[in-house]
Amino acid sequence: MRKSWLIVGAVALVLVGGIIVWLVLGARPQNSSTNTINTNDSTATVEEEVVASQTTVTIKNSAFTPQNLKVKKGTTVKWVNEDAVRHNVVALNESAQGGLPAENALLGKGESYSFTFETVGTFEYKCSPHPFMTGKIEVVQ
Ligand code: CO
Repeated sequence: MRKSWLIVGAVALVLVGGIIVWLVLGARPQNSSTNTINTNDSTATVEEEVVASQTTVTIKNSAFTPQNLKVKKGTTVKWVNEDAVRHNVVALNESAQGGLPAENALLGKGESYSFTFETVGTFEYKCSPHPFMTGKIEVVQ
């Protein structure tokens, strides 16, 4: 009688342990490094991947997506505002310009701004009315 209770206890322990392991593993994102974005000239591009001649950064919920983008020299990046709030794209500071303007027009909903990166380097930018909105374009040869 006592032995059978031990077996029941052991089975219950294995079941509970299994459920805990399943919950912990199940809660993990399946593949966090494969966020995709839509671009104009291809269906989808992995964030940080070197892309073709044009790519799009979406401005939504007061954030730039993708926030960090790696492109080849000569690439035109197009920022499209999907927010009702007006945003813009300016260099984070003078040293980070890479040709990006220090001042820029505000974009209404659906409006866009395009800039062609002709200088190799890493160029950080922000939205001037909302300086917490930042992004980075890494331009490679
Ligand atoms: Co803004």
